[in-house]
Amino acid sequence: MKVLLATQKPFAAKAVEGICAILTEAGHEVAKLEKYEAQEDLLKAVPDAEALIIRSDKVTREVIAAAPKLKIVVRAGAGYDNVDLEAATEKGIVVMNTPGQNSNAVAELALGMMVYMARNQFTPATGSELMGKKLGVQAYGNVGRLVGQKAKALGMSVCALDPFLSDEQIVAGGAEPVHSIEELYASSDYLSIHIPALPATIKSIGYALVSKMPKGATLVNTARKEVIDEEGLMKALEERPDLKYITDVAPDNYALMQEKFGLRVFATPKKMGAQTAEANVNAGLAAARQIVDFFASGCTRFQVNK
Ligand code: 3PG
Repeated sequence: MKVLLATQKPFAAKAVEGICAILTEAGHEVAKLEKYEAQEDLLKAVPDAEALIIRSDKVTREVIAAAPKLKIVVRAGAGYDNVDLEAATEKGIVVMNTPGQNSNAVAELALGMMVYMARNQFTPATGSELMGKKLGVQAYGNVGRLVGQKAKALGMSVCALDPFLSDEQIVAGGAEPVHSIEELYASSDYLSIHIPALPATIKSIGYALVSKMPKGATLVNTARKEVIDEEGLMKALEERPDLKYITDVAPDNYALMQEKFGLRVFATPKKMGAQTAEANVNAGLAAARQIVDFFASGCTRFQVNK
C-alpha cells in the first residue's frame, strides 16, 4: 500500500526513520510531503495515497475528494478537529488518532508556560512561585492528568473537572473533583485547558468564566485557540489588570492583545506542545503501527469516526 506522510510541521528525523522502517518492513511504500507550504501541495500529493499519516495538517472534504484510493488517515496526535470526519465517513475512510502518545510533551509545556508567566516572561520584574497555588484542570484526560501530577510535584494543589469521569477516577488521578465549570474557574490560580475543539466547546471560554478567576490568576491554553471566545477574554483582561493569558498558538487578535496587555499575554509562534523528539517518535511510530495493523488484520482500534 502507498502511505503518504504529510506533515507541514515535520517530525524529528528519528521519528521519520522509524515510521519508514515500520512501514517498509511490512511491505508498504512510503512517500513524504514535509514542510509543504500550501494546501495545494497536499492536494497534489494525495491522488495515489492509500493511507495518510498527518499531524495538524488539514484533511478537508477537498483533500478526501482528491484521494480516491484513500482507506485510512491516522492523525499522529490527539486532536482530530483538522480532519473532516463526515467527508471521510461518507467515503468509508477510517480515521484514527494516537491518544496519549504526545501527552507528556504537552503537559511539560503547560507547566513551563506557567513558570514563564509566573516569572513575567523572564524579565527582571519580581515574579511568583507555583508552590502553594491552586491549579484547575479543565478535562482530566491523558494530558490533563499528567499536568495535574506534575503540578503536585511542584507543590501546587490540583482540582479538576471532567464530565466523563467519576469523582473516584479524578481522585485516583491525584486531583480533587469539582462539579461545575464556574467553581473550577473561581477556585483556580492557574487554569489549564485540555478540552477538544468541538461544536459544543468552541468559544466556550470567555468573559463569564475568565472574570470569575481569583486575583492574579493565569489562564493556560495548550488545547485549541478555537475554544476561546477572544472578545470575551479581552474584555475580562481589560477589566482585570491582574489576570494573565498564555497560549500555545496565537489567538486571531494577538497583535491587539499584545498592544493592550503587554507581558500579561504570550502566545507561542507555532503550536509546540507536541514538538519534542520523544513525542514525535511516540506518535509517529504508533501511527505507522496502526496502519500496518489495519491493512494486516483490519484492526480499527483508535478509530474516531465509528
Ligand atoms: C495534538 O492534538 O496531538 C496536538 O495538538 C499536537 O499537534 P501537532 O502534531 O500538530 O503538533
